Amino acid sequence: MLVSAKDMLEKAREGKYAVGQFNINNLEWTKSVLLTAEELKSPVILGVSEGAGKYMTGFKTVAAMVRAMMEELNITVPVALHLDHGTYDGCYKCIKAGFSSIMFDGSHYPIEENIEKTKELVKVAHAMGLSLEAEVGSIGGEEDGVVGLGECADPQECKAIADLGIDFLAAGIGNIHGKYPENWPGLRFDVLEQVKAAVGDMPLVLHGGTGIPEDMIKKAVSLGVAKINVNTECQLSFAAATREYIEAGKDLKGKGFDPRKLLAPGADAIRATVKEKMELFGSVGKAKE
Ligand code: 13P
Repeated sequence: MLVSAKDMLEKAREGKYAVGQFNINNLEWTKSVLLTAEELKSPVILGVSEGAGKYMTGFKTVAAMVRAMMEELNITVPVALHLDHGTYDGCYKCIKAGFSSIMFDGSHYPIEENIEKTKELVKVAHAMGLSLEAEVGSIGGEEDGVVGLGECADPQECKAIADLGIDFLAAGIGNIHGKYPENWPGLRFDVLEQVKAAVGDMPLVLHGGTGIPEDMIKKAVSLGVAKINVNTECQLSFAAATREYIEAGKDLKGKGFDPRKLLAPGADAIRATVKEKMELFGSVGKAKE
C-alpha cells in the first residue's frame, strides 16, 4: 500500500530501528527495491530526487509506475513514495502527482525563510494526507546537483522547525552524500544528542547512508534516527555488476545483449544491497507487526 511515511517512522523510532529510503532511478531500481521489501516484510521508502524525477520524464510518470507496479507485483508491505531534497515548487508538483510523502529542503535559505516555507508546506501536505520531512543544517557533498557544505544543525533551529508540526527531521550531523573521504572524521553524535534533546520524540533522518560504518549506524539509530537514506551504494552495486557482465563478454554470447539479460545482474545487485541495509537497519519483519 502506498502510505504516508509518518506511521512507519513513528513505529521505527519507538521500536529502535530505522526504515531505509532507497532512491530510485528507473524501472529496474523500483522493482528491485519493492521486491526486496516484500521478501523481507520490511516497510520501505522510495526516494525520488528532482533530477531522477526529471530523468524518468516527470513525477506523474513515477507515481503512476510505482502504483501500478505495487498492484501487479502484489506488494503488501507499507511503501512511501517520497520526494528527496525537494524545492518549494517540486513539493507542489509531487503533491499534485500523487506522492505520499515529501521532503522540503529549505536548509539553504535563511532560517526565517526555511520556517515560513516549511510551515506552509506542512499545512498543504497534511491536508492531502502526505508526510513531510524538513531539513536544518545542510548535508555535505553533492546529490543530483544539490550541493551542501555539510554544516552541523543548530539544535534551537531544529526545535523551531520541529515545532511546525513536521513529521520527521533531517539534521546535518557531519554526514555527506556520496562516498565518504578517507579523512572523514565520522558522525557528530554530540550534535545528534543535542538535536534529540531539543526536538524530543520526532523521528530523525540520516542522509548520506552510503559508506557509514555499521557501528555508527547502530549508534545513530539508538539515538533517535528512524530513517536512513541510501542512494550511491545501489548505484555502485549496479555499476559493478553490469561492468562484470560486460567485461566477461556475456553481452556478446547468445542473446546476452537483450536488455532483460544485460540489466539483470545490476538489478540483482541492488536487491542484495537493499537486503544488507534492511538487515543492518533492523526493519526486516517489521511490516508484519
Ligand atoms: P548517499 O547517496 O550517500 O547514499 O545519500 C543518499 C541520500 O541522503 C539521499 O537524500
